[in-house]
Parts: sequence; structure tokens; C-alpha cells
Amino acid sequence: MSAGPVDKSTSIDVPFLDLKAQYASIKDEVRTAIDAVLEKCAFVLGPFVKEFEDNYAQFCGTKHCVAVDTGTSALHMALLGAGIGPGDEVITAANTFIATCEAISYCGAKPVLVDMDETTYTIDPKLIEAAITSKTKAIIPVHLYGRPADMDPILDIGKKHGIPVIEDAAQAHGATYKGRTAGSMGLAGCFSFYPGKNLGAYGEGGAVVTNDDALADRIRMLRDHGSRQKYHHDVVGYNYRMEGIQGAILNVKLRHLPEWSQRRQAHANRYRDLLADANLQLPPPDGEIQSVYHLFVVQVDDRSRFQEDLRDEGIGTLIHYPIPVHQQKAYADHDWPSFPVTERQAGRIVSLPMFPEMTEEQIVHVATVATRSVNL
Ligand SMILES: Cc1ncc(COP(=O)(O)O)c(C=O)c1O
Repeated sequence: MSAGPVDKSTSIDVPFLDLKAQYASIKDEVRTAIDAVLEKCAFVLGPFVKEFEDNYAQFCGTKHCVAVDTGTSALHMALLGAGIGPGDEVITAANTFIATCEAISYCGAKPVLVDMDETTYTIDPKLIEAAITSKTKAIIPVHLYGRPADMDPILDIGKKHGIPVIEDAAQAHGATYKGRTAGSMGLAGCFSFYPGKNLGAYGEGGAVVTNDDALADRIRMLRDHGSRQKYHHDVVGYNYRMEGIQGAILNVKLRHLPEWSQRRQAHANRYRDLLADANLQLPPPDGEIQSVYHLFVVQVDDRSRFQEDLRDEGIGTLIHYPIPVHQQKAYADHDWPSFPVTERQAGRIVSLPMFPEMTEEQIVHVATVATRSVNL
């Protein structure tokens, strides 16, 4: 006979993310929406995607939303639409997901990284100007973990140097900066609707929002084989179209997003109260910058042991991200300087479970086990 399972202190499991719980809460609405697409056979772009574009533009407070197939495509389209090409440089945060840099590379441009701010996890505005050269053609702040970057100084720098600011809002649907919605402050805002995002499709999805009529028109053309009129192709474009089923599902989920964001914010506050005495660095507090807590990221000294202690108690954690972009093999041919804050924090950060459907019991369990692990 084996010794049996490890003796856990409770039988509560807390997955890192529970997409099934969310689906169960909206199952009938989603099924009805998918049926409507099937009945109409509106599989690619079409009325359901258009309805989503209108609703999402309104949600962001922008004139236009152009839906595409992924967040990476959204970034690629925004950059191409803004005229970025070979020989150009684009500044972004050193601690982002690789897709931000990939989109820059797809344009033939060079990603230029800037270190993060120690406490906010977003690009350090104080370091941006030193990275600007005559080749700099865009700045992409990343609203990482659901918290908008410090946009006022970034927009000021953009204005001073005549460089457009394109927001990577892939993780920040509905987050606000001094009352303005993430994605609506720069020339364009780029979103991902990957299933695990705060607004997640049931497959891939993305969108660019903008107030610029010409940019929206150009991206609409580029995402559909360079075509404004069927079988008339102005340029060599892309097939980055959103599927009808994803548009219909996103329409359903968008109705719930404000409530889901409020729940994430309430969970974050609960974590803060319960972890106040734990030997952990917590996310920056909210104030005039309101995070939508795509992730709740803490810093610990001994991360391996911390993750193991939580795993032993049925709690899922992840690291966003363990290897910074400039240390990835994919970018080994670039001559990078060092990014000390990003490099140090990559070894300390860990994301705790965070999803709207978390129960009080689950939050207390995570906080109890986390506190025990770091305060031993
Ligand atoms: C910060 C950031 N930018 C861009 C992307 C790319 O989005 P997608 O996976 O939809 O292509 C992601 C998605 O993970 C992201 O987190």
C-alpha cells in the first residue's frame, strides 16, 4: 500500500484560473449567441463582429474599434498603420510578454527596451528619453498585470519628440488612469482576447481602438488582405480577421466585464488585508490609477519554496514572466544592455490565483498558506 496523498491542511483547491466556473455562469447566453452565428453562417467578420466593435469602442470611449484575430496582430496592425517599418526603432518595456517585441520585429523595426519601475511593474518614464534616437518612431507602454502605465509623462515625452504612443492594453480591459480608459489615451490601444484574459474569447481574438479615422481605416484594410472592396487589393495585407463566433461570445462577455472587474478589485483588496503582515511585496495600491487585476503579483525571497508550499496545499501559481525578453533565445542576436530591475524581479515575482469567481474561502486559503510560507 502507498502512503497515500500528502497531508493537506484543508481540502480546498484553488486553481490559478477557473474558466469553467465562468462558463457555467453564462452558459445559456453563450450558447444562444453561438447558435445565432451558426444560423446566419456569419463566420468571419460580419454583423456579430461589427456589433462587438461598436460596443467595445463605446466601452473604451474611443471612436473606433477594429477587431482582429489576436492581440499580437492588434499590435502589428497598430504599428504598421502608424507607418513603422524597417530601420525604425520602437521603445517598449523590458518586462513585457514577448508578443510586444514580436510585433515590432514583424514590421522590420528594432525593439528598444526600457527598464520597469520598481513598484508599479510598468515602464519607468524617467528612463524613456535616454532611449530616444532619431530612429525612434513609436513608444509602447504596456499596462502589465491590468494596471495602466504612468501615461501622463509618457504622453508628454511622445508629444515633445513627435513620437506616437501605442498602448499595449492586452491585460488591462477597462482599467483606468485618472479617469481615462486604458487603450484610449495614445494614438491607438491594442487588446488581446486570449481565453485567460479579463475579456477572453473562446479561441483567439484581439482589437485595436483609436480615435484616428485614417488609422482605423488603414487597419481595417490591412487586416483583410489589403482590401477595402472585395477582390480589390490596395496593398499586400494580412488575414487578421476576427471570427463571427468570437465576436458574438465577446458581445455576451462584455456585458459582464464591469462586474467581473469589480470582483477582481474586491479580491485584490481582500488579499491586501489578509496579506498585510506577510513578508511579501504586494502590488501597488490603487488611487487615480485603477488596476483591473488581470494578475495579482507579489514578490518573495524564496520563490521555489513558496510555489511548492502553495502547490502542496492545492493552490496554483504562475510566473509572469520568468525570463525577460532580452534574455530569450529568440532575441539573442540583439546587443542588449542590462535591465537591472527587470532582471532582479524576474527571479522574485509570482502570480497568485485571481479570477472573478474566486470564493472568500479560496482567497482566505491562499492568504493563509502564503503567509505561513513566508513568515516561518
Ligand atoms: C502584454 C501582452 N501583449 C500582447 C499579448 C499578445 O496577445 P495574443 O496572445 O492575443 O496574441 C499578450 C498576450 O498574452 C500580452 O499579455
